[in-house]
Amino acid sequence: MKSRTLMGIAFVGLIGFGPIQAGDEGLDPDQWGLSPTSVFDVPTPEAFGYPDTRPGSSEPLPRGFPGAPPMVPHDVDRYLPITMDRNRCLTCHDDFELIGKAEAEDPTPMPKSHYAETNGRFTPSGHNHVCTHCHVPQADVPPLMGSTF
Ligand code: HEC
Ligand code: HEC
Repeated sequence: MKSRTLMGIAFVGLIGFGPIQAGDEGLDPDQWGLSPTSVFDVPTPEAFGYPDTRPGSSEPLPRGFPGAPPMVPHDVDRYLPITMDRNRCLTCHDDFELIGKAEAEDPTPMPKSHYAETNGRFTPSGHNHVCTHCHVPQADVPPLMGSTF
């Protein structure tokens, strides 16, 4: 008996609340998402380009937080993709002797953390081979949503 009563209550509940959920007073489609337009629109994002500043003519960019991987201030088109046998970033940034001694016009040498030591010899570590996992160029794109981070 008890379970029948419960089922009855559940059934009335379904009928009772059904029309409210499907009713006309729901949210407008343009209030469903974070975008100020309807979720059914397919907006075309504004086209943007990465800066085409050559290495040697850019300035270091401010870091997001202490210890953050610095962003790439120059263009990288000609150096990608990075493959197992070819990493053109290393041709300029692999200079162990220059760590801590680089002049402003030198390519910033990779830090010691990017090297592996074998028998007292430092070679670029395989862990950091794909530089663009962490170091990316920046385009001047205004954020769609504000952030207080
Ligand atoms: C032809 C030499 C050259 C190549 C190749 C090169 N860079 Fe650079 N890079 C520089 C120079 C020089 C600077 C210093 C800024 C300047 O003068 O443009 C720099 C700056 C940077 C910085 C900023 C360092 C800081 O302290 O803020 C990062 C990160 C960087 N490069 C990453 C890369 C990555 C990743 C690649 C490969 C996709 C690459 N670079 C390829 C020469 C080069
Ligand atoms: C797993 C993430 C990661 C990868 C992959 C990586 N880096 Fe870094 N890199 C960092 C971080 C984090 C720092 C900041 C370390 C610091 O300031 O002590 C850094 C710092 C640097 C700097 C600035 C050094 C300085 O003294 O200001 C250069 C240049 C650099 N990396 C080049 C490279 C190159 C070239 C590659 C590819 C061969 C590479 N990195 C791969 C995370 C990474």
